[in-house]
Amino acid sequence: MQISFVKVEIPDEGTLAIGVSECDDNLPGILGELDKKSKGALGRGLKAARFKGGKGKVVEMLAPAGIDLDRLLVIGLGKVDEFGAKAAENFGAVAIGRLLASGEKSVTLLLQYPAGKVVESDGVIAAGVALGAVLRSYRFDQYRTTQKKTDKPTLAKVNIVARDVAEAKKAWRAPEAISKGVFYARDLVSEPPNVLHPEEFAKRGRSLEDMGVDVEVLGEKEMAKLGMHSLLGVGLGSECESQLLVMQWKGARDRTAQPIAFVGKGVTFDTGGISLKPGPGMDAMKYDMGGAGTVTGLMHALAGRKAKVNAVGICGIVENMPDGKAQRPGDVVKSMSGQTIEILNTDAEGRLVLADALWYCQNRFKPKFMVDLATLTGAIRTSLGLEIAGLFSNNDELAERLLAAGKAEGEELWRMPMGERFDKLIESPIADMKNIGGPFGGSITAAQFLQRFVNKVPWAHLDIAGTAWAEEARGATPKGATGFGVRLLNRLVADHYEG
Ligand code: BES
Ligand code: MN
Ligand code: ZN
Repeated sequence: MQISFVKVEIPDEGTLAIGVSECDDNLPGILGELDKKSKGALGRGLKAARFKGGKGKVVEMLAPAGIDLDRLLVIGLGKVDEFGAKAAENFGAVAIGRLLASGEKSVTLLLQYPAGKVVESDGVIAAGVALGAVLRSYRFDQYRTTQKKTDKPTLAKVNIVARDVAEAKKAWRAPEAISKGVFYARDLVSEPPNVLHPEEFAKRGRSLEDMGVDVEVLGEKEMAKLGMHSLLGVGLGSECESQLLVMQWKGARDRTAQPIAFVGKGVTFDTGGISLKPGPGMDAMKYDMGGAGTVTGLMHALAGRKAKVNAVGICGIVENMPDGKAQRPGDVVKSMSGQTIEILNTDAEGRLVLADALWYCQNRFKPKFMVDLATLTGAIRTSLGLEIAGLFSNNDELAERLLAAGKAEGEELWRMPMGERFDKLIESPIADMKNIGGPFGGSITAAQFLQRFVNKVPWAHLDIAGTAWAEEARGATPKGATGFGVRLLNRLVADHYEG
């Protein structure tokens, strides 16, 4: 889908989608002009549809006589004082959601500014429309060979009306790179687990070298030498070799300056292992590499927009399978940190992978902070639902920054409690800790487990088990893989760690 910014205000052919804030019967600006051209027919149509500009409300019509257009979409933006880049993004997303496979090949998107002052620049608002449009257009169709013509995307060109075309083009550069990172993450998460096994994941991570990212891949031999038996234990039942993907983007003026770090859980398929999961719905566990997908997509975004920061991305990539060589409940393993772990449930594997990945990260890179992302617990879905991710942290400043970045990007977090009262629940009678904490506070005991592998460094853990995959389209996110966290973390970097 090609995005262009155009000056013309009212096009004289094709489809026009026009976004308008809450209004009364006096149609504002261009909508009013079009109404006049149609001798009031447009206004009557909107009235009949009870359209008043309410957020997300859409009226679609054949253009009435007098207007030289084929199709007209009028989309509500909500309250006048909520007009801005976010409303613009939502407008772009709603329009493309409607038109992507509608048979239309091109559309013009026009945002009607309300009267009064708008805080963001025109360029930023036009780029917001573009971002919503592009992110909502994502599809993962490469394994369909018999898709009906009427289900295939038809929209190839999107013209976005901008008050200042040059400024809009400039403002679009960074979000365009970010959208590519989000797509990269969504592709990884969407791939079936027979295709995206650990070595294939590492191979795709390696392709970021073309963007100037330094990439190293550690195999089982290298990890065994480092003593990473917590991570390696998870992969014992798999035919696939476990991998540690280490990516470095050195965009700061001083390429040796202390980096920031992101760590992802990359379980390319989670059967539960010997503690086997029930059959129904198990296919969902292909997205158990969502944390690693986001970390890789984030590195893609940072490199794509040449972010002025040194950032490290580390993904622990394994497949959790039951087999004669698989680890058992009751096993005790020794992590790279030297701490021992009693495995009581082989399905609590994500924390075992992250334990060694976090330890490796902080020791090798001595980062300013570490943020890990993981589809870690079903319990976070029970606690927070499917639209908000859980945030756990040992550092208030980092937590506040993450909360704010999530709000700004529409990828929201909710901070969860931590502390001694939860930590004691993972004491083991035989080893330094056990890998499950009993029936209560499951997301918190998982986070406490991770914290035992974090020293003094500021750290945050995002449990994205609810948000990595969407059953329904929402805002700029179509159904399926969301890429949750790429935008949020890119914003964290842009707002606090660049320059
Ligand atoms: N990958 C799962 C968590 C998950 C569940 C992600 C649903 C996405 C959707 C994780 O490895 C897991 O199995 N966790 C267990 C932990 C339990 C055994 C302590 C869980 O949540 O049931
Ligand atoms: Mn599991
Ligand atoms: Zn898992």
